[in-house]
Amino acid sequence: MRHLIDFGDMSRAEWESLYSQAVRIMDHPEQYLDACRGKVMASVFYEPSTRTNFSFQAAMLRLGGTVFGFADPGSTSTAKGESLKDTIKMVSGYADVVVMRTPWEGAAKAASLYSNVPVVNAGDGGHMHPTQTMADLAAITRLLGRVDGLSVGLCGDLKNGRTVHSLIKALAKFEQVRFFLISPQELAVPGYMRAFLEENHMPFTQVTSLEAVIPQLDVLYMTRIQKERFVDPLEYERNKGVYVLTRRKLERAKEKMLVMHPLPRVDEIAVDVDDDPRAAYFQQARYGMFARMALLSGLANQPRLDRTPAVEIGTKPVCLNPRCITQAQAYLPPLVKKVGGVDCCAFCDAALG
Ligand code: NCD
Repeated sequence: MRHLIDFGDMSRAEWESLYSQAVRIMDHPEQYLDACRGKVMASVFYEPSTRTNFSFQAAMLRLGGTVFGFADPGSTSTAKGESLKDTIKMVSGYADVVVMRTPWEGAAKAASLYSNVPVVNAGDGGHMHPTQTMADLAAITRLLGRVDGLSVGLCGDLKNGRTVHSLIKALAKFEQVRFFLISPQELAVPGYMRAFLEENHMPFTQVTSLEAVIPQLDVLYMTRIQKERFVDPLEYERNKGVYVLTRRKLERAKEKMLVMHPLPRVDEIAVDVDDDPRAAYFQQARYGMFARMALLSGLANQPRLDRTPAVEIGTKPVCLNPRCITQAQAYLPPLVKKVGGVDCCAFCDAALG
């Protein structure tokens, strides 16, 4: 694996080997103190982050590596109008691995075209967040002992929640996972995720009521309504606070069900749920650090490319998604891929035409 842009690019065998490595690191951290000695991670965050940024930094420091970066793009040359391509060309000249978060969908994929070192997608707009999925899968596997055959409820903002999209991509690699997609109708999964579920014959039920399905779930994955992604503030006002998991609602859930959340939470899990043994979200965050250590120990030690392959220069974006990176960076090539038999933008997955 050269980059981690979309969890769908990873095979199940690759994930299982990463998970085994994460468990070895978790159980014997002292053996990995020098796994990235002399290596440097660039942390390029164009969007707010606490957990992911700290988790990556902690992961690299625990492996003996070092970190530089920014979490405030206002202090960088992007504010002067520098292109993503130029920023990545420069940063990948200084670092051994680049971890990147942006508000643009498909930006990490775009960066990977120009980087001399591995690029890790730490969240690209409302699109994907594959390393959060590594945290999620590590937690499920460690705490429930398996992923195959589980009933998974995804609850909240399924339209804009990138963690949800990546988790669905990942769960396609397992057998007989059944989904309950719990959201208001206007926050249902985007078309490309629906097409993905159908193409992969993944059974899913779309519902608006959490209470109606909670007794059937092995995992309940709560998410925040993604305020920053709403174009229409009234749409946010209509949907905020729509799901709140309380101790009372948990009474009807299975005794071993996991309550998960990528965090940060706003109000979708009541604070008194934290003391229920089923609450797994803080452990989930810690497993994420070990999973990122496993990932970085592989990627940061790859040989750097002296030259990146030549990339055709685009003349105009083919994608109409206003949040797609091709709208902001006009030189990107018009890459196309098929999802469920439909032509989609290879950066942001939106259907074309
Ligand atoms: C998530 C994100 O940034 O997408 N947070 C995280 O990385 N743990 C979830 C969110 O912001 O709601």
